[in-house]
Amino acid sequence: MTLPLSTRTQNIAASLTVAIDTLAKQMIADGKDVVSLGAGEPDFPTPEPIREAAIKAINEGKTRYTAPVGILDVRKAVCEKLERENGLHYAPEQIIMTSGAKHAVFNALAALINPGDEVIIPAPYWVTYPELVKWLGGTPVFVQGSREQDFKITADQLRAACTEKTKAILINNPCNPTGSVYSRQELESLAKVIVEKDLYCISDEVYEYFVYNGSFVSAASLDGMPERTIVINGFSKSYCMTGWRIGYDAAPAPIAKIIGKIQGQAVHHPSNVAQYAALGALQMGNASAIAMREVFQKRRDYMVRRTSEILTVPAKVPDGAFYLFAPVQEFYGKKTPAGKTISNSVELCQYLLESEGLAIVPGAAFGDDTCVRFSYAASDKTLEDACDRFIRGLQKLS
Ligand SMILES: Cc1ncc(COP(=O)(O)O)c(C=O)c1O
Repeated sequence: MTLPLSTRTQNIAASLTVAIDTLAKQMIADGKDVVSLGAGEPDFPTPEPIREAAIKAINEGKTRYTAPVGILDVRKAVCEKLERENGLHYAPEQIIMTSGAKHAVFNALAALINPGDEVIIPAPYWVTYPELVKWLGGTPVFVQGSREQDFKITADQLRAACTEKTKAILINNPCNPTGSVYSRQELESLAKVIVEKDLYCISDEVYEYFVYNGSFVSAASLDGMPERTIVINGFSKSYCMTGWRIGYDAAPAPIAKIIGKIQGQAVHHPSNVAQYAALGALQMGNASAIAMREVFQKRRDYMVRRTSEILTVPAKVPDGAFYLFAPVQEFYGKKTPAGKTISNSVELCQYLLESEGLAIVPGAAFGDDTCVRFSYAASDKTLEDACDRFIRGLQKLS
């Protein structure tokens, strides 16, 4: 075939986190000794009540099409959760069940973005955001949250980044990859600028239950924000349901209507059975997620301690999510035993994978080439093994 494929698609990069996870899984399948802390995937099984809810749904024949926006009972349960836990007031018409939070981010951007619109993305950022913005014809505008400011951006930085083309800001709180958590006060100062500049806000809250210091505040709960914010959430992280592919958008009514239309044409709806599983999760409440948080906190502390055995500048202790974003720049310019000079985070991760069988993600994927990202949503034994490999690999550089 010689006819050109979509130019818009040629401009987007494949997800590096997905690529590394896929490569690590392939290497393991090929019999190689590989430890992967690449994917952000809790190592616990999906809780039993959720599995039971799904099995019951299948046995009761809940296997047909649902409404494009999802089953009413599930959307009602989402509204109750948002009210109870986040102080957010939504009607079921404002909730759209999606095939995971990633799909919910896509829906939100698809509803908002016209070609040429600028979308502000605080960096470091989750890999998917800029690529989706570009795919939809928008322009990602990065605002750097430096290590000194705990990787968070300030209201002044946000204001300085706004132009007449700025349409929206994408906030990920708690943040993947940095684990930073915005306090109420910090969010309020950002919200003031968002309102002043009349921007939309996409608030990705998938790690809301994993806050170790401080407490979680939804951007949508602040003054002037409900009418301009699309809340993104999902079940992958909170309920160990990565493979079920279920999440949601909670949006102002006119935006929710558009998202429903997009979804009705693109995918119809997320799996009927997964929606019933999500209902089971919502009926369970968040106790299992809170229990996981305690385990993750111990693992976080372990990772900080172990990695600081080799890092001159230790990683910032993350306040939330389940990632460690560790600075590795001090190893750039050093040589591998095979004589190759390491000059960036991609080369360092490649070396660690090839030499030590350790899969972690280069910071470059998240807009910060000085770091690498570990996911610590893995068993204690896996983390110990990964840290041993990390330290051993770095010690071999000269
Ligand atoms: C910040 C953020 N948002 C969304 C997602 C996607 O989650 P889901 O599995 O629900 O699509 C992830 C997954 O890594 C994430 O880190």
